[in-house]
Amino acid sequence: MTAPDIAALKRAAATRALDYVSAGMKLGLGTGSTAEAFLEVLAPRVRGGLAVTGVATSERTAAMARTLGIPVAELDDTGPLDLVVDGADEADGDLNLIKGGGGALLREKIVASTAARMIVIADGSKLVAALGRFPLPVEVVPFAHLTTARKIAQAAADAGRSVIPVLRRKADKVFITDSGNYIYDCPLGVIADPAALAASLSAIPGVVEHGLFVGLAKALILARPTGVTVIERKA
Ligand code: 5RP
Repeated sequence: MTAPDIAALKRAAATRALDYVSAGMKLGLGTGSTAEAFLEVLAPRVRGGLAVTGVATSERTAAMARTLGIPVAELDDTGPLDLVVDGADEADGDLNLIKGGGGALLREKIVASTAARMIVIADGSKLVAALGRFPLPVEVVPFAHLTTARKIAQAAADAGRSVIPVLRRKADKVFITDSGNYIYDCPLGVIADPAALAASLSAIPGVVEHGLFVGLAKALILARPTGVTVIERKA
């Protein structure tokens, strides 16, 4: 059996997301390779006259959008967005997500929570029965981050999961987010109650944001070798 062409699947999901874009939209632009595939398919439409204003969820996405000729503005200037199109590290059948593998979870969540609609685009491998196979990213302020990491481990233990949070590094240096923070990756295994864990992580002083996106995504566009399907949030 040949391995699926993941890049082609990401592009297929991204292309389907264009169906949700219309002229004049204020559009949140996600971060990661699938979100970048969306920029690549959106750009020719913009060059062809489709007027949209993009709000980027990372410096990397902002730079790529500008290079491709997609107008980029600040969220504070645009106000509420019509739509955000973003990728995910994991999605369950209720459209709860783990995000932050690319380190942009804070801006991604601010943008998603300011959009009328969040659409997630992904290849089929991202759909899971229960969240938690992907280590949950938790963004923390650098001050006393070891203390905060211990509290994160305690919150996980209270939720029945034993975890050693791992400080993210890149090229032998501590990874710094676009907002100047650190990320702890938490390999939790099955997260039985994402909403409850999300609430306890948010309550820890020093935690800026976590990668659990609960109740934000309205639709998941999933590309598999057999075709593209759209899973809508149940009312
Ligand atoms: C970045 C994210 C990305 O959406 C997530 O990591 C998925 O990335 P990719 O599309 O490259 O698999 O949350 O913070």
